[in-house]
Amino acid sequence: MSRPATIKWNDDRVMMIDQTLLPGEVKVLEISDYKLIAEAIKSLRIRGAPAIGIAGAFGIVLGSRQFGGDNISDFKEHLEKVAAFLAATRPTAVNLEWAIRRMMEKAEKFTDAGIERMQSILLDEAEAILNEDIESCKKIGAHGAAILPESGTGLTHCNAGGLATGDYGTALGVIFSAVELNKSIKMYVDETRPLLQGARLTTWELQNQGIDTTLITDNMAGHVMAQGKIDFVIVGADRIANNGDVANKIGTYSVAVLAKYHDIPFYVAAPLSTIDFESRSGEQIPIEERAPEEVTQGFGRTTAPEGTTVYSPAFDITPHNLVSALITDEGIIYPPYGNLKDKILDSKKNKS
Ligand code: MRU
Repeated sequence: MSRPATIKWNDDRVMMIDQTLLPGEVKVLEISDYKLIAEAIKSLRIRGAPAIGIAGAFGIVLGSRQFGGDNISDFKEHLEKVAAFLAATRPTAVNLEWAIRRMMEKAEKFTDAGIERMQSILLDEAEAILNEDIESCKKIGAHGAAILPESGTGLTHCNAGGLATGDYGTALGVIFSAVELNKSIKMYVDETRPLLQGARLTTWELQNQGIDTTLITDNMAGHVMAQGKIDFVIVGADRIANNGDVANKIGTYSVAVLAKYHDIPFYVAAPLSTIDFESRSGEQIPIEERAPEEVTQGFGRTTAPEGTTVYSPAFDITPHNLVSALITDEGIIYPPYGNLKDKILDSKKNKS
């Protein structure tokens, strides 16, 4: 099934699928105000680490066009405020701050070009971030597909598909690539409480590609592994620390522990832009906390007594010793991860 783009620029506006309405309704939002981009990121109309990076970049473009004056230092000050506003929406996915930083560095470099020229340079940069992300996903897919079995069943958590990226996906990109290579892959999908990205988005994407998909609630993962139904686990990441610790959707850590216990490979698929070399370990990664209502009102009905204290971290940290391999756009990284920055630089040197 063909569907609208997850996010794209069209005629002075940002178009994005409102993912809060999926799978019931495929509605495309048209946004021309950077504050509405921030709202869309915060309320998960667009979500997934690479996709919110792209949205942040387009947010900078919109913000640059919303400047009314003609003084370059006022323009730069305005852009700084726009960048800070967008960056404050969600703290965990490093792609958001990475994309915003890249946009601001571009703006800084072309300060002398004049406001109009800078606005167009910023649009080109945001389009480049989008296109590079799609390319990265294809590369992740190709690298990952090569290590999957000819025939087998995977389990994934949350949504790391085309909806979470520019297109195609990271963890799901690996599955799509494997199927394109005629590998016989079936998938189990954790529903992913509290916001059901697995149930609402991942099953939708996999079914649209004709992939045999079985939905389970999160607490069934151990049971299906014990029954021998799962050959590998594959998930995405919001931020990977320099030692290989992985921040991803809450519940990923539990799945990784279960996979280790059952001797099932646990793969993390992500572009290099998701690796945060500045975070020494998972302890340095900020974990977003979400509103209690997402837990207590999640199914269109009240599921806990009013006033119940709720703790709702949106992400958890999977320690690197539970990760069998990192599947990146530059290739597969196997343990020991050590210092990822050095490891990646060394492998780039060896390739050149
Ligand atoms: O809260 P979300 O839906 O933005 O969380 C998304 C995830 O945890 C994804 O697994 C991650 O961003 C990787 S997306 C390619």
